[in-house]
Formats: sequence, C-alpha cells, structure tokens
Amino acid sequence: MKNLVVVGGQWGDEGKAKIIDFLAEKSDLVIRFQGGANAGHTVRLGEKSFKFHLIPSGVLHQEVTCLIGAGTVIEPGLLIKEIEELKKTGVSLKNLKISPLASITMPWHLEIDSRFDTIGSTKRGIGQTYADKYGRIGFQFKDMFEPEVFKLKLKKFLPQQNKLLSQIYQLKEYSVEEILEQYLAYGEKLKIYLADSNRIIQQALKSKKKVLLEGAQGSLLDITYGTYPFVTSSHPISGGACIGGGIGPSKIDFSLGVFKSFSTRVGQGAFPTEITQGEEEAFSRLLQAKEPWAEVGTTTNRQRRVGWFDLVLARFSSQINSLDGIALSKIDVLDQFEEILVCEAYRDKRTGEVLKNLESIGNFYLENFEPVYTKLPGWERRTFGLNKLKQLPTNARRYLDFISEQLETEVKLVSTGPSREHIIDLLN
Ligand code: GDP
Ligand code: IMO
Ligand code: MG
Repeated sequence: MKNLVVVGGQWGDEGKAKIIDFLAEKSDLVIRFQGGANAGHTVRLGEKSFKFHLIPSGVLHQEVTCLIGAGTVIEPGLLIKEIEELKKTGVSLKNLKISPLASITMPWHLEIDSRFDTIGSTKRGIGQTYADKYGRIGFQFKDMFEPEVFKLKLKKFLPQQNKLLSQIYQLKEYSVEEILEQYLAYGEKLKIYLADSNRIIQQALKSKKKVLLEGAQGSLLDITYGTYPFVTSSHPISGGACIGGGIGPSKIDFSLGVFKSFSTRVGQGAFPTEITQGEEEAFSRLLQAKEPWAEVGTTTNRQRRVGWFDLVLARFSSQINSLDGIALSKIDVLDQFEEILVCEAYRDKRTGEVLKNLESIGNFYLENFEPVYTKLPGWERRTFGLNKLKQLPTNARRYLDFISEQLETEVKLVSTGPSREHIIDLLN
C-alpha cells in the first residue's frame, strides 16, 4: 500500500486521528485536505493525550512533513493557539507546512456562525468561510503576506460584508484598518509555515515517497452526500482528497474508511439507529462518562449522541468513497454487551418495504425509515489493548467478519483502545 487516503465512514469522531497517527509512522507526507478547526482529533501516547484541530494528526512523528492543504479553512487565531499549546507539550512543528491556497476565516464568519447557526455547528465559522470561498469573495492564506493585495480585497469586499452584518444580523461593522492590522499580525506569526505546497507534493510523488491524505469529519457530513442540511461544508470523502490535497485520483492507491463499532453523532440531524433515552441500560453503557469511553466532543465538549452500527449507511459510505478497506475502532467499548445490535436494513415506514441500500433518490429522506436489527452475540470479555487477531474472543471476530462481509470490504485495522499500540494490524 503506497499513497493512502483515510476518511471517516460515519458522522465524524470515528477515531481517525489515532489511525492516522499509527499509519503516519510509515508515511513521508501527511496532508489534511479539508475542514478546519471544527475537527477534534485525539491521539493518545502513553498517559498523554494530544488534541488536534487543524494540524495533521501525523505531527507526532517528527520526521514526517505535515501539510495543511489547499482545501482547508484556517482561523488564524485558533491555529496560533493550537500551535502554541502543542509547542508547550514539547511537540516539534518544524515540519509543519501550510498551503497558500487554504481559505481563511474572518471574524464575521465566526460571529455569524456562533449567533445564527441553525444545525448545531461547531461555531467555528466553517460554513460561512466556505460560502465566501465559493462565492468568490473569500480570503486565502497567501493574502496575509501581501498587505497591498489584502487591503485592496478588503476595500472591495468589506462594504458588502458590513451591510450584511449591520442590516441583516444587527452586528457591528469592521474597518479595513482593524482587519488588516489583526491579520497581518497573524501573518507574522504564521509565515514560517507558508510553503510551496504543490512543489512539496510533486517532489514527494516523483521520489516515490508515501503520502497519507487525512480526512476530517465523516462521509455522512459531506456537503453533497451527507445528511443535508445537517452536514459540514466541505468534502470529507475520498474524492475530496484529490481536490483539497492537490493530487489526482490515479496517484491514490488505497482508500481506507474508519468506522466506529457503533455510531455517534454530534449536532442535529437524522440518526436512524440512535439509542434513545428509553433504552436506558444500553444507553448508559455506551455513554460511560469515564475515559477512554467518554463520548464527549473534543472541540465543543458536547455530549455525542450514540447508537448502533448502521450497515445501510455504512454501505453507502463504502460506495461513495470506493473503500478498499476499513479500520474498525472502539471494539473494546462493546466488551460488556451480552448482545450487540447491528442495523442490517431499513424498513420504509410508508410502505413496509425493506431495503439494504440507499439507492433511489427518495430513500435519502432518512426520517421515512426505521432500522431492522440483527442481534449478534456479545463476547463479554475484555479486548482493551489487544494487538493480535488470535487474541480476540470468537464472538468479537464474528462481529468483525459480519461487518466485513456486509460491506464487502476487508477489515485492515482493528482498534482496541486509544493508544498507538492498541491496534490489530491486518494490513500486510
Ligand atoms: P476523530 O475525530 O475521528 O479523530 O476521533 P476523536 O479523537 O474525536 O474521538 C475518538 C475518541 O476515542 C478519542 O478520545 C480517542 O482517544 C478514542 N479512541 C480512539 N480509538 C479508540 C479505541 O479503539 N478504543 C477506545 N476505547 N477509545 C478510542
Ligand atoms: P472530526 O474531524 C463530529 C458536525 C457538527 C455539526 C455539523 C456542521 O473530529 O471527526 P460545522 O462546524 O462543520 O459547520 O458543523 O458537523 N461536525 C463534526 N462532528 N466530528 C467532527 O470532526 C465534526 N466536525 C463538524 O457537530 O453537526
Ligand atoms: Mg473528532
């Protein structure tokens, strides 16, 4: 396996960062290709937890070049904070690079998102930044290093932003001078990371270096394929890696989807297999509030909604990503269940029809469906930290085999705990 894209197969928080950290050891270049500081990525090394939002999760491997790619959005203040906090914990950022083409989040994006969000966003101004990018009135990372260009763009675009702020949102207006001062100061702090990203990528490809494309969020949050409008505003799917990373599809050798052994979701939107408060016992077990099972958002500290594994959505996710393999995380969380539910199909509440795939347009209104569950026997033994397939209880292996068969994809990695060494490597 050479160049690899790693994506979340569900609604984010699948444990991607831990998998990327594991794979980064065998990589030369890690490129984060979309999203922004809406992501919350945790990598655990021994007793220490590292939290990343925009910085690629490969950064703990000091020799790996880590690139924040052209498809990302950067709120410079938050990025500086993330850099400073990582430096304090002794992480070297000498190989961190940032694409000049990344979009930058402006103060009004943050303000509008924090006050007027309607879908349960992370309030990082993500949707607003991408909207301006696609509306061709956005700012790019490179602008912070060209004061004259930046000033001209501000003069051109700020009046219309100010009108929107004062007349629609009743928010304060900004002056060209204050924004210029703030962002040029950010630029001073970030200029050492500005890099000719295309050259870095082309050199890596030419010299047959291993490139790892890191997705944030998850496929069901994709702006086009996800549970719209309760989605993020970028393309977290494997195709997004080409656009946001700056690499053509022929150079990507393997597409790996990370799935949790159950499902979680933060924010609003359809969630057919959600365990509701009525089912207290299963609910409280999956939601155990103590580490390492805590399902609390890394970025916003919100409690994650929890449910069973959904094969209908996973099949869809596997298809739109053209997955070559999957990584299954958190199987240790299921250790204590006598039986484990997996949603194998949906029943259409209107017609009673049972379907396994989301094939026709009408099927994308998830509210019309209820899950049809298969019960699998639990293993009721501790799998935490195991790193060999043969150590797994028979029923845990049956669970993996079942998911693999149903998705028609091989399980390549099994994560059994938060740390780097808590992993069963089936890649070779
Ligand atoms: P990401 O956004 O996909 O990178 O995932 P997050 O970091 O937001 O959430 C995953 C959480 O689960 C983090 O707290 C990880 O440390 C933890 N984690 C990852 N893999 C495993 C695993 O296999 N078992 C357990 N118990 N925890 C895990
Ligand atoms: P990682 O990379 C889980 C969700 C938000 C909200 C929706 C839109 O850690 O897996 P946004 O701020 O992007 O406009 O919010 O998407 N969301 C995530 N959920 N994990 C994430 O990232 C997420 N990033 C955004 O909760 O429902
Ligand atoms: Mg996360």
